[in-house]
Amino acid sequence: MRPVRKTTVRPACVWFAPGRANLMGEHTDYNGGFVLPFALAQGVTATVAGRPDRLLVLRSKQVPGDRVTVAVDELAPGSVTGWAAYPAGVAWALRDAGYPVTGAAIDIDSDLPAGAGVSSSAALECSVALALCSLAGSAVPRRELAAIARRAENEFAGAPTGIIDQSAALLCQADHAMLLDCTTMDITQVPFRPGPDGMAALIADTRVPHALVSGEYAQRRAECEAAARLLGVPTLGSVTDVAVAGRLADPVLRRRARHVISDSGRARAIAAELAAAGAGTTGAEAARGTYRFIGRLLTEAHVSLRDDFEVSWPEADLAVDAAIAAGAFGARMIGGGFGGSVLALLPAGRLPAVRGALTEAFAQRSWTPPEFLDAVPSAAARRLS
Ligand code: GLA
Repeated sequence: MRPVRKTTVRPACVWFAPGRANLMGEHTDYNGGFVLPFALAQGVTATVAGRPDRLLVLRSKQVPGDRVTVAVDELAPGSVTGWAAYPAGVAWALRDAGYPVTGAAIDIDSDLPAGAGVSSSAALECSVALALCSLAGSAVPRRELAAIARRAENEFAGAPTGIIDQSAALLCQADHAMLLDCTTMDITQVPFRPGPDGMAALIADTRVPHALVSGEYAQRRAECEAAARLLGVPTLGSVTDVAVAGRLADPVLRRRARHVISDSGRARAIAAELAAAGAGTTGAEAARGTYRFIGRLLTEAHVSLRDDFEVSWPEADLAVDAAIAAGAFGARMIGGGFGGSVLALLPAGRLPAVRGALTEAFAQRSWTPPEFLDAVPSAAARRLS
């Protein structure tokens, strides 16, 4: 047994924040468009105990042997790198927003695959943010906390991401997908319960890790901003008519804009369909129609991400094709792209066939086998003890 540390002054609290899958609206968040994520059952747990010495001591079960120590008062972008930049960045951003941050021992555990496009970094940030707030006795509204956690990721960890991931981790509801307008930050929760409807949302991790700090994500952002400037609109998300993209002379910018405008529209269309379907209370046949509709848009979105936004990768393209051939209503890559996961929507009875088809297709190419995750729309971050 480990000796009790004399420096621990407060009992630990334990907070959990979930990962997310995004049903629709990819690369729309930083364009002020619509996104439609749902929280997963899997996520990150932060166990935090106060320390009187104003040090943060960070450990993660997923990085055994690594122990990062940093003084709260010396936190500055660039002072911590790697996985620990996310929790350290949260402490920095909270402090910078004027909230008290105490010294703390922070122990992380996660059942989310890292680099799989299911938002493990936001789950890490949000679990730590809530735990540090509890420790210091601050009550920070969740929307504000999402913005603080995003700042940690943008300015401390150096990933220029949008607001979807932190919002999903902090604001989603069980059995719902959350339509978020990334301009107004208005939220509409729409019922989404694949399980009770006899359906399944399946995440296939293609085992090609993606990294948001790499240049392509930032490049896409810059292209979208350039497109908006040329079109004379504040953001691409403020445009609803896909035809507007056709005004851009540059074929690359035209394709980027077409993706953002159409995907944001698809997010709204699916939310409207789910709201109308009303949580599958309308019978199996109607539910099938709803999922068929969503599936069609998923596949349409994949084609748009692949051809117009050019952020897909061969393993995702194969996974989408194999899932549809094996009976899925539709499928698409999720997250930032260039690696990560695919989300497929299918009748629950087709799960073994779809999983088998993907595994087989990857094996035929001698690729690392995909890993599967049940995507069950779950509650946002919460205190466990
Ligand atoms: C990553 C980012 C998000 C979002 C998606 C693409 O997950 O963290 O902010 O931009 O990519 O939709």
